Amino acid sequence: MIEALNLVKWFGPILAVNDVTFTVERGEVLGFLGPNGAGKSTTMRMITGFLPPSSGTVRIDGHDVVDDPIPARENVGYLPENAPGYPEMTVTGFLNFVAEVHGLGGQDKRDAVGRVVEMCHLRPVLHQPIDTLSKGYRHRTCFAQSILPDPPILVLDEPTDGLDPNQKREVRDLIREMGKEKAIILSTHILEEVDAVCSRVIIIDNGQLVCNGTPDELRKRAPGAGSVTVGIYDHKAGEIKDVFSGLKGVKRVDVLGEHNGAVQVKVYPVRQDGNPLELGPVLANVMKERGMVFGEFHTEKGRLEEVFYDVTRAEQEVASDTEKVSNNVG
Ligand SMILES: Nc1ncnc2c1ncn2[C@@H]1O[C@H](COP(=O)(O)OP(=O)(O)O)[C@@H](O)[C@H]1O
Ligand SMILES: [Mg+2]
Repeated sequence: MIEALNLVKWFGPILAVNDVTFTVERGEVLGFLGPNGAGKSTTMRMITGFLPPSSGTVRIDGHDVVDDPIPARENVGYLPENAPGYPEMTVTGFLNFVAEVHGLGGQDKRDAVGRVVEMCHLRPVLHQPIDTLSKGYRHRTCFAQSILPDPPILVLDEPTDGLDPNQKREVRDLIREMGKEKAIILSTHILEEVDAVCSRVIIIDNGQLVCNGTPDELRKRAPGAGSVTVGIYDHKAGEIKDVFSGLKGVKRVDVLGEHNGAVQVKVYPVRQDGNPLELGPVLANVMKERGMVFGEFHTEKGRLEEVFYDVTRAEQEVASDTEKVSNNVG
């Protein structure tokens, strides 16, 4: 549904987006992650046709956004970053206006407006001017606007920014629900959001794509992923370390110290094709053979936060060594 091919955007001397390629299929919610100034909003503006790329191509359902803009843009609902408003309009006035812009009239218009008012819980503020709304309601009004024509594709720039925890949850539920039928791309810097709603994640940093995978695939890239923490009774730290270190698939053993009367160690797996080997069964076996009694036994899944830190920090170090200009605004 969305194809972004080799997208590049220069703002004068600033390279905001540097050769970004990805696709989004129907039924996918793609999370677009990255630090502030990474190029998320710029990429989204190019996808929606609001900003021409310096080079590269965007196709929406096969239509080139630049050469064939009308069919391309008709299919896309867009929630921009700083949702522009029509401050003096009431919520209902605004939504009716948006419906008319999309060529809806009569019963179709009433149905479409009624549907988004329900989905976004706007009933209590229908007759209030937009500039008197709380941030949460204003945001949801904009969100309602972007989904009003029920487009098959949604591009949502930080859709939960500025919402309270309950509102965040409602918006996430809504996105997850809509994601079953649509192709959705959303930007965020909230990692838990990615876990909650996204079927796939890309991380962009300094305008470049540094990661692309499912949340689980990404998690496996975390330095601690697959490591096992185990607490063993009645054995010396040195002995435990020797036994575990000699096992196939074990890369390193750290002794963490004494914990509740047990020696606590952390065992790191060898990686194969970037994925950690599974250590649980190997360790369980050897402990059984040697009569080692253990208290805790915990395998780390890996945290997105670690991966995010790892890939975006590495990029910054590279960038600081080059002439590349970036991150100086926003
Ligand atoms: N209109 C613009 N003119 C000049 N520089 C811009 C403009 N829009 C964005 N930038 C720059 O492009 C880079 C990427 O910005 P942006 O896409 O907004 O990042 P993000 O949304 O990931 O925080 C930043 O360095 C930002 O300062
Ligand atoms: Mg942004």
